[in-house]
This record gives sequence, C-alpha cells and structure tokens, in this order.
Amino acid sequence: MGKQKVIFDTDPGVDDALALLYLLRHPEIDLLGVTTVFGNAPVTLTTRNARFLLRSWGQPVPVHPGAAAALTPDMPQDDFPVHIHGRNGLGDHPVPDQPTDEPETASQFLVDTIRAHPGQIRVLAVGRMTNLARALQIAPDIADLVRDVVIMGGAFRVPGNITPAAEANIWGDPLAADIVFGADWRVTAIPLDLTTRTFMTRPMLARLAQEGGPDMQLVADLSQGYVGFYKRSGYDGMLVHDCCASVFLTDPDLFTLTEGEVRVPWEGIALGTTMMNPTDRQGPLDAWADRPRQAAALDGQAEAILARIAQICTA
Ligand code: BDR
Ligand code: CA
Repeated sequence: MGKQKVIFDTDPGVDDALALLYLLRHPEIDLLGVTTVFGNAPVTLTTRNARFLLRSWGQPVPVHPGAAAALTPDMPQDDFPVHIHGRNGLGDHPVPDQPTDEPETASQFLVDTIRAHPGQIRVLAVGRMTNLARALQIAPDIADLVRDVVIMGGAFRVPGNITPAAEANIWGDPLAADIVFGADWRVTAIPLDLTTRTFMTRPMLARLAQEGGPDMQLVADLSQGYVGFYKRSGYDGMLVHDCCASVFLTDPDLFTLTEGEVRVPWEGIALGTTMMNPTDRQGPLDAWADRPRQAAALDGQAEAILARIAQICTA
C-alpha cells in the first residue's frame, strides 16, 4: 500500500509543532500541504510559524493561509491564548520573519487537492474547523471524495479546557464544528477525553530532544513556555493534544472509538460543547436526526501513544 496522503490544517501552536514533526518523520505519511487557521495566534502568525517550522526542518511542503476569523457570529476577534502558546504562538521562541497579510487560499487548496485525489486524502485538522467548513461551503462534493477527516477537538464526557463545557478548537468556531460534524463524510474526533491523558513529562521531552537531533530540539526549545504553563498548575510536563491526533492516522488500534450523531451549540453558555447522541436513546432527538454518525476516541492507550511519538520523533 502507498503512503497516506495527508493535509494538515493547523494553528501552530506548540503542540501543533510536535504533531507536524511526527507527520514529517513518519515513513507512511505523504504530507501534501499545510493549511493554517487563526487560533493559538492570529493567522498571520500561525502561517509564519508553519513556514518557519518547515524551513527549519528542511521540508518544502506548501503552506496555504486560511481563515482569520470564525464563521460563528459574534465571536471575539482578538482573544488568543498568550498565557499558553506565548505572544507569537510558538512559546515566544524567536521566529525571524515578519508576519504578512496574504490572500486566503486554504479552503480552495483543500477542495482542489481532495478533488484531484478522490478517495485518498486524509485531512488532519488540529485547530478551529473554519477552513474545513468553508471548503464544504465552496464544494459540498468533497464530502464524498475525501478519505476521512480526523480532528483534535471536543470534550465529550469530560470538562472543557476553555469553558467548563467546551474544548478550545471547538469553542473557537462552534458553527464551523457543527458543519463539519454534520457533513456526510467520516469524522473522527480525538478529544480531551483522551488527550488529557497523553502527558509528556519534562524528562521525557528532554530525552526526545537529546535523541531526536536538532529538529526535536527545536520542538523542546519552543515548548518551554508551554511546560511553564503546566508547571503553574502543578504538573511537570505538557499535554500533546495535537500529536495524539497525528498518531491516530498511523496507529488507529491504540484508540477506542465511540460513535453517534454530534451537535455543537454555537450560542449560550454551552457554546462549543460536543454533544454526541448515545445509541438506544429515545426522546426528543430532532436536533440530532438526519445527521451522520461520527466517531470520537473517548478512550485509548495513552502510554502506547506517547511511546509511538517518542519512537517516530527520535527515528
Ligand atoms: C487544542 O487547542 C489548542 O490550543 C491546541 O493547539 C490544541 O489544538 C487543545 O484544546
Ligand atoms: Ca492546535
């Protein structure tokens, strides 16, 4: 079997950087392009960061700038998690280039690439779902043409990490997430239910930096502020949310999936909650009716996922 053709939709983002390195290092992955989105920082910065990482690692993968704001009405426009990912989105690690305003090409790139490789493209989205929702709006036919969509996002049976109800990627554009979960394509969410158990300790990060060469050293360097964020909460290390979703592409057996129709409210105090309709439920389920069943990894082998990251990122 040939390599998996992957488009990585991302908002680098410290954990995004590790997720990207995993994809680049994995022998079974053919990374066709990177699309960027606002989230951990404005899209001008996440685009610049993606290019910086790829250039630092000598990988000429095309980067397509994406959405600067949510599809959801009335979302805050300049609320970025600087206390987690730094003011520049990469833990305030020095990034030489100036951010630039560029035309948004991400959603059209998604459409064109999915149409060019029917049944083959896997989209891995680890930021807001805005680019994917826009791609569906431009070209609904891509739902039939994509191989599948894997997202890092959601909090199904655990509290959120941005409100008690919502995980950050879903909260940042809940309408886009509802569109993505509602399209007739296969979506697998890798949510906080599992990713909050994939904790890379500081000693493990240091070992990876030592064994993984300069590429992994860069990830360790730019992760120090992120590690500091966890330290203030009493933890010695960092969660590797987005890289957990990268591992799903290559090692699905390490993940335990639950299926159901998913809705995401985009207003009110529950904005951004991922609500999966349990099987066998009878009741007033109109809001979930006629939606495709999607999957969420509510459980999985966290230690084995971390071991896989270590193996690939030090190979
Ligand atoms: C997600 O939010 C972002 O800050 C991280 O990069 C990750 O994609 C975790 O909730
Ligand atoms: Ca991310």
